[in-house]
Amino acid sequence: MTAINPVTDLSKDGDIAVVTLNSPPVNALSANVRDGLVEGFRQAKADPSVKAIVLICDGRTFIAGADISEFGGQMKGASLFDVQKEIEESPKPVVAAIHGTALGGGLEVALCAHYRVAVPSAKCGLPEVNIGLLPGAGGTQRLPRIAGVEKALEMVTSGQHVPAKQCLEMGLVDELAPEGKLKETAIAFARKCVAENKPLKKVRENNAKLEAAKGHPEIFANFRKANARKFRGFKAPEANIQCIEAAVNSPTFEEGLKTERKLFMELMTGDQSAAQRYAFFAERQANKVPDVPDDTPTIPIKKVGVIGAGTMGGGIAMNFANAGIAVTIVEVKQDALDRGLKVVRGNYERSAKGGRFTMDDVEKRMGLLTGSLKLEDLADCDLVIEAVFERMDIKKDVFARLDAIVKPGAILASNTSYLNVDEIASATKRPEFVIGLHFFSPANVMRLLEIVRGEKTSKEVVATSMKLAKTIGKVAVLVGVCPGFVGNRMLAQRTREANALVLEGAMPWDVDRVLYDFGFPMGPFAMGDLAGLDIGWVKENSKSSTIREVLCEMDRRGQKTGAGFYDYDENRNAKPSPVTEKIIADFRAKQGINPRTISDDEILERCLYPMVNEGAKILEEKKAIRASDIDTVWLNGYGFPVYRGGPMYWGEKVGLDKVLAGMKAFQAKMGDAFKPSALLEKLVAEGKKFGDVK
Ligand code: 3HC
Ligand code: NAI
Repeated sequence: MTAINPVTDLSKDGDIAVVTLNSPPVNALSANVRDGLVEGFRQAKADPSVKAIVLICDGRTFIAGADISEFGGQMKGASLFDVQKEIEESPKPVVAAIHGTALGGGLEVALCAHYRVAVPSAKCGLPEVNIGLLPGAGGTQRLPRIAGVEKALEMVTSGQHVPAKQCLEMGLVDELAPEGKLKETAIAFARKCVAENKPLKKVRENNAKLEAAKGHPEIFANFRKANARKFRGFKAPEANIQCIEAAVNSPTFEEGLKTERKLFMELMTGDQSAAQRYAFFAERQANKVPDVPDDTPTIPIKKVGVIGAGTMGGGIAMNFANAGIAVTIVEVKQDALDRGLKVVRGNYERSAKGGRFTMDDVEKRMGLLTGSLKLEDLADCDLVIEAVFERMDIKKDVFARLDAIVKPGAILASNTSYLNVDEIASATKRPEFVIGLHFFSPANVMRLLEIVRGEKTSKEVVATSMKLAKTIGKVAVLVGVCPGFVGNRMLAQRTREANALVLEGAMPWDVDRVLYDFGFPMGPFAMGDLAGLDIGWVKENSKSSTIREVLCEMDRRGQKTGAGFYDYDENRNAKPSPVTEKIIADFRAKQGINPRTISDDEILERCLYPMVNEGAKILEEKKAIRASDIDTVWLNGYGFPVYRGGPMYWGEKVGLDKVLAGMKAFQAKMGDAFKPSALLEKLVAEGKKFGDVK
């Protein structure tokens, strides 16, 4: 065995050379890796006793892509193209041996090998689109040549990781190796190439699969049309499509590559990709809690209890059943329990019908859920999550009872949206085992989990919750106790301003349009209509004191009643409503408000600056560990467009000085709701950024 450099080894198995990468955590193509590959292949090719070469990786995965942390800086060492040339032009057959994930630049390297062998658990993908990019090392030109145009379009625009078996079917992988036997299988494959004198297959030279798409521009037009909603606002999907089009229509492979290079550089130097790369690292940074080290002991979670089978409880339970963890759901009444479980089954069956899993899986998952009307049935749970009505008295009563029932050492969690987790914990004799686990609706779909650390919550309970979030596929962000925590606390600012803007002269659809055009999936009024305007509304107490109350009193309670802020047709398409317009006009008149014209810029600034300011207060009060955690909350829980990086990142792009000046101007006109946070003032005065806050 020869060490080529600290991350690359070259060894021999008879006449087969094996180039092995070992660059944890994910063998990303850093300068060291690129240099090691170039040198490793050069030496293997120069050795006359070597007849074929296998490329394999140590550790958890094959190459997971270019090293994203190098982007935006000065590139050092060999380029990725140098690496690819060494492999593709090799006069000796090269076999890539894939386990874990071959992603982005990693797959682009593997596509330069003459053959690919993978274990069944391996996955291949070109996920660059998720960081606002396109595969910039020939991926858009080689993938359609090997997998066909339609499959390639799907893969580059979705970024999906495709399982090895499907890769085999589409020709991306040549042979599956038994699990745990990748190296010997790849070596045997290489030996077979030599013995049978197999051709040195270069994907770039294989144009057969492009032919079918030639002269059929409708393939691309239809694809764009079918995905228009999904791609709205993003630059990368369209650039990816154009590259695949170039693969089909360019006279040569090299011409196609030129288009790919040009569009790659445009994306790479653009704002969207910078924001999306920031979001990628922000999400991973959120896993790190400075005073809870990685080796903090955790509590094994084998059985979970959920209290309440309403909107949230059922979805929360699904997360655990999906991960193979048994759940007992407790309700107060049989009909509520039956209804809750029926909704869960319905969700699973819909997924099965959509092809996500089989009907057998539905039964397996339902089999992990047990309904009950007795809290006593939660005695042996390792974790209990309460999702009953949002009332402190009820929550305290439930926690006091749970404390007496559930075994010592088990975690008691609340899914509360706003309430004080410390006060809830005070109802128990084990506040160190109490934590907030704030799921978002629909809880089985939304990726965000705000983990609310109480004053007394132990480090073990924090570490267990963070780990558990990974197990159930959530993005966890640790936050502190304050009303609404991070997400809802900032949302309250936006909601207040959206309502104020309507009173002052804007229409709900003006506010919604501005936020939709900014990139949110919908504006606050459309959102209200979707969720139901009557959430928290009590008919008997309603006094026409807000526009929303008036709407509810008129039975315009949102989409479910066919009308809310908007009117809806039978397909639930929204139309601005003359009825709402009149309600608003009457309401303003009653309050003596003379409506004025409000610009789109004002709508955006009024809705977003106070959020940035509230985020600064949250940081100042140490209710979030870092600004990027706040962005992670908003990107994963509230539909903030990822290509804008999140509210804090966006605020910095606008300029914190500009946000501060805007807040001050609004404060002078409209009062202390716009009072700038001390931290914002300080950062601007010192020319610093949120990232400088320690
Ligand atoms: N570059 C740099 N660091 C990377 C990286 C990459 N491509 N991929 C992962 N990492 C780092 C993460 O930041 C994390 O670091 P940390 O431990 O310090 O926080 C560590 O590797 C482990 O990552 P995860 O926590 O995400 O580990 P998982 O096991 O959950 O997931 C993964 C592994 C599926 C490989 C996931 O990390 C992933 O999706 N990575 C990104 C893959 C990607 O986007 N590749 C394309 C890159 S762009 C490219 O190749 C351009 C080319 O076309 C020219
Ligand atoms: P819901 O009203 O849909 O469901 C609550 C369920 O709890 C009902 O089925 C009720 O029968 C049951 N319940 C009440 N008291 C009980 C008790 N003592 N024992 C057992 N079951 C009991 O309410 P939803 O929307 O599911 O909210 C639950 C919690 O989740 C609240 O704290 C809420 O603030 C929070 N939350 C709600 C979100 C949402 O979008 N709906 C989002 C995030 C958090």
